Amino acid sequence: MRSLIDIVDFTLEEVDELIATACDIHQNPQKYADACKGKKLATLFFEPSTRTRLSFEAAMYELGGNVIGFSEASSSSASKGESVADTAKVISCYADIIAMRHPLEGAPLVASRNATVPVINAGDGGHLHPTQTLTDLLTIYREKGRLTDLTIGFCGDLKYGRTVHSLISALSRYHNIKVVLISPKELAIPEYVKSDVMDLNEMHYFETDSLDEALPELDILYMTRIQRERFDDLETYERLKDSYILTCEKMQEAKGDMCILHPLPRVNEISVAIDSDPRACYFKQVLNGKLIRMALILKLLGETDKVESRDEGLEHSEFCCANPRCITSVEQELVPKFRSVELKERVYRCIFCEKDAVLKEEK
Ligand code: NCD
Repeated sequence: MRSLIDIVDFTLEEVDELIATACDIHQNPQKYADACKGKKLATLFFEPSTRTRLSFEAAMYELGGNVIGFSEASSSSASKGESVADTAKVISCYADIIAMRHPLEGAPLVASRNATVPVINAGDGGHLHPTQTLTDLLTIYREKGRLTDLTIGFCGDLKYGRTVHSLISALSRYHNIKVVLISPKELAIPEYVKSDVMDLNEMHYFETDSLDEALPELDILYMTRIQRERFDDLETYERLKDSYILTCEKMQEAKGDMCILHPLPRVNEISVAIDSDPRACYFKQVLNGKLIRMALILKLLGETDKVESRDEGLEHSEFCCANPRCITSVEQELVPKFRSVELKERVYRCIFCEKDAVLKEEK
């Protein structure tokens, strides 16, 4: 059974195949109109969503399939205390494939280990969002004609922006990608993304807090909103929320063919006047999201006999995960598991949220 929890669950060739299928679906939608006839997608959304949930639903309908699900945790049995593992087992009896969004990091991975149908991570806390990444890759490919030799600026909330983490991971596998990380210090990219993804893959990257300085160099500007719901204290959010606002005036400094991407929702980090600039690609991105999710559903439903090859992790009884947003911190019956990463020294990461393992007595 294949699932998509992290973008690197797919090889580069598989990502390229998905992009090719999405382009074919765009050209020949009729060819796919009955491809999922008789199949059901369950959308389990424990966190708010407009695009991701509705694009999954639209995708399944356009493939001739059906959709069941819920869009709020409060309308599911999670509000009665049901574990993610039990929910996954139950939904497997009703649906052929699951798309899950959850505020706890690692929840879709737990679901995939307990479901008997493929599980798609539709966003887990501030961790990962691989289907937005597929959307972003398809958009870059359709706009630029390539996924190599690009300078990409990520701007805004790089700490909690899960779409940023997944896209950097995906881009680390393409040739000659330069990344400029533009954020206030408090919202800098997590250390593990730097060490385990960018350093390990010898990616060329540069950190700055100045959008003005970075802008003229960029082929792609990936704007993000400051993720209000993930802040522990709202004062910090209020102080940082308007750190970057892209205006028409600033856009005069950008390349004539630069593309602006944004996973949306936009709060006020891109002025509405930019929407009519041909470089604004964020609404085209929305259409691409539906196309690539159609390709993804087709792929996963066509590969239910294949075996997953992700690192299962190991139990280390002396360690625990110190991240309060990790599923293992909340669902106490889960057995924490860790994998080791060889950096300058060997470090251990929680397999559910990728944060550092700590000794139990230090927690
Ligand atoms: C993103 C998300 O949910 O992480 N939205 C989306 O899925 N298109 C970005 C965000 O919420 O800021």
